[in-house]
Amino acid sequence: MTTPPIDASTQAQLVSKAKEALGFSYAKYSGFKVGAALLTKQNNVITGCNIENRFFNLTICAERVAISKALSDGHKEFIALGIACVNQDNQIQYNAYPCGACRQFLIEFAPNLPVIIAINESDFKVTSVQELLP
Ligand code: THU
Repeated sequence: MTTPPIDASTQAQLVSKAKEALGFSYAKYSGFKVGAALLTKQNNVITGCNIENRFFNLTICAERVAISKALSDGHKEFIALGIACVNQDNQIQYNAYPCGACRQFLIEFAPNLPVIIAINESDFKVTSVQELLP
């Protein structure tokens, strides 16, 4: 199945919301802050950030927080997911893709979900969960 096209302003809006969301990140151990913004079919934007734990296995990634928040509020259909990250020096990290666990988690609920990542300050790449997890 193909990934539906996402217009440029929606791409920019979701990455910008993801950037806002990473402000709430709890990244005490890695310093790597991640935000995610999920657009639902009902036009809600549900955000998430990574929440770390000293026991690394309990750390939750931003993408899984966003989709879990959405699912637990009853949202079932999703249009796209934007992601943003900064390092410990607060510098934006371009070309940062969801980790393997997030890909596996996302494919369960939204296999064709377009995933938007920033490749530089003003350009974005749209891929999909399916493409990322063949
Ligand atoms: N992280 C995410 O939030 N999403 C990803 O897709 C990759 C990694 C978080 C987990 C951890 O808090 C930090 O980034 C470093 O791995």
